[in-house]
Amino acid sequence: MAITYKQGNAAELAADALIVPVYAREQGGALSGLAAELDGTLGGDLKALADAAEYRGKRGGVLVVPTLGKLPAKRVVLAGLGAADAQSEESVRLAYGSAITAARDAGARDVVAALPDSEAVTLEQAAEAVALATYRFDKYFGTAHAVSAKEITGVTIVGDTETAAGSSIIAVGLAVANGVALARDLENEPGSVINPVTFAEQAEAVAREQGFELEILGPAEMEAQGMGAILAVGKGSAVEPRLIRLTYRPANPGPESRTIGLVGKCITFDTGGYSIKTYEGMLEMKSDMSGGAAVLGAMTALKAINCPHTVHGVICAAENMISGEAFRPGDILTASNGVTIEILSTDAEGRLVLADGLVYTARQGADELVDLATLTGAVVVALGEGSTGLFANNDELANRLLAAADQAGEHVWRLPLTPFHEEKITSDIGDIKNTGGRGGGAITAALFLQHFSEGLPWAHLDIAGSARATKSSGYTPKGGTGVMVRTLLNYVAK
Ligand code: BES
Ligand code: MN
Ligand code: ZN
Repeated sequence: MAITYKQGNAAELAADALIVPVYAREQGGALSGLAAELDGTLGGDLKALADAAEYRGKRGGVLVVPTLGKLPAKRVVLAGLGAADAQSEESVRLAYGSAITAARDAGARDVVAALPDSEAVTLEQAAEAVALATYRFDKYFGTAHAVSAKEITGVTIVGDTETAAGSSIIAVGLAVANGVALARDLENEPGSVINPVTFAEQAEAVAREQGFELEILGPAEMEAQGMGAILAVGKGSAVEPRLIRLTYRPANPGPESRTIGLVGKCITFDTGGYSIKTYEGMLEMKSDMSGGAAVLGAMTALKAINCPHTVHGVICAAENMISGEAFRPGDILTASNGVTIEILSTDAEGRLVLADGLVYTARQGADELVDLATLTGAVVVALGEGSTGLFANNDELANRLLAAADQAGEHVWRLPLTPFHEEKITSDIGDIKNTGGRGGGAITAALFLQHFSEGLPWAHLDIAGSARATKSSGYTPKGGTGVMVRTLLNYVAK
């Protein structure tokens, strides 16, 4: 599907559907902007229909109206922006994401989208939302699948901005959406397809395409650097673990330019190991690599957003399986910073691969570390599905991430690194234990990671509840969400 930009008057173009943004109104109140103009052309029918349907233009609310040959477009899709005085990037994404989905469900293929008045700030988000909402993972539909004929083939966004300038604005939104789509694809792929080695191949393709520096460590290199934690997790699998680093360097680093380390948990399948998961618990563990997917997805858009900082994207890839070689409860591992870890549960494996990944990234010269991981079921109990838990040892870093998430429309809630829970992960036989019991499970996992933050400002995003969606909503289809790609991009852009 092609998404393009063109200067002109959207109402004059032929299409299966014309998306028209509207601000919220009282029941029976006047329609805004282009909708009011079209209402004139349609002899008052648009407002009459909107009134009859009690359509008020609330945020993300849509109304599909057939035009019966009275306009070049076969249908008008009103796209609710919500209250005119409460606009944000997210209002635009929800309006255009819901509208394109409604247009598709109504059978439209070729779509034209008009823009609201303050178009410079909305063009990028409109393009981003259209791309995000029309994402589909359909490559495995076979001959027995009733393929839906409902597919958008092209979207032309039309506004006052000159065509070349508008096209370069939407290119940024599309690059961001492509990064999210890559993350979603990797999350949706089965564990038999995406394993540590094939994930590394994906990273290699990104590095080649973007011109990034690339380093891939296998077991021999991990051994040489004393990475006993990631090595132990990877031991039970027939596929070797990989620690992957991609490095982006800005073309002209200014005096404010920092070095940011993004570290992703990338367990390409989590059986739990000998502390084996239940049937239910194992069902979605193909997406236990979502932290790594978010890092890789974000990396693909760094050039497009003209990121002013050096960014190390580090992906800690392993498969948590069972075999005669696998690690066991009771084993004691030594991580690359010398911290010894007593294994209580082989199912608390994410924190182990991140331990070596964080130390490695700090040693690359990072000024600050942000890790992302589908780390604990406990964070889902605490915050519910759709939310990301944030932990940080630095308020400024935490607040920057919260602001970035807010701008992206991704829900992030900060949780505490409760110091007196540290005793729950203190080991009698080594330094720390890899689980801290049931209470505060997301907190003790974060406290564990803190031992590997090497004294740097560090933040941890637990995405166990947000990496997959059980139903579609707004501009996010069911399945892998690619969560945090857009938050990370907002964060590294400043
Ligand atoms: N990958 C899981 C966490 C998870 C749970 C992600 C649900 C997505 C949805 C992680 O490796 C894990 O198994 N965590 C254990 C930790 C426990 C053994 C301390 C958990 O949360 O039960
Ligand atoms: Mn696990
Ligand atoms: Zn896991």
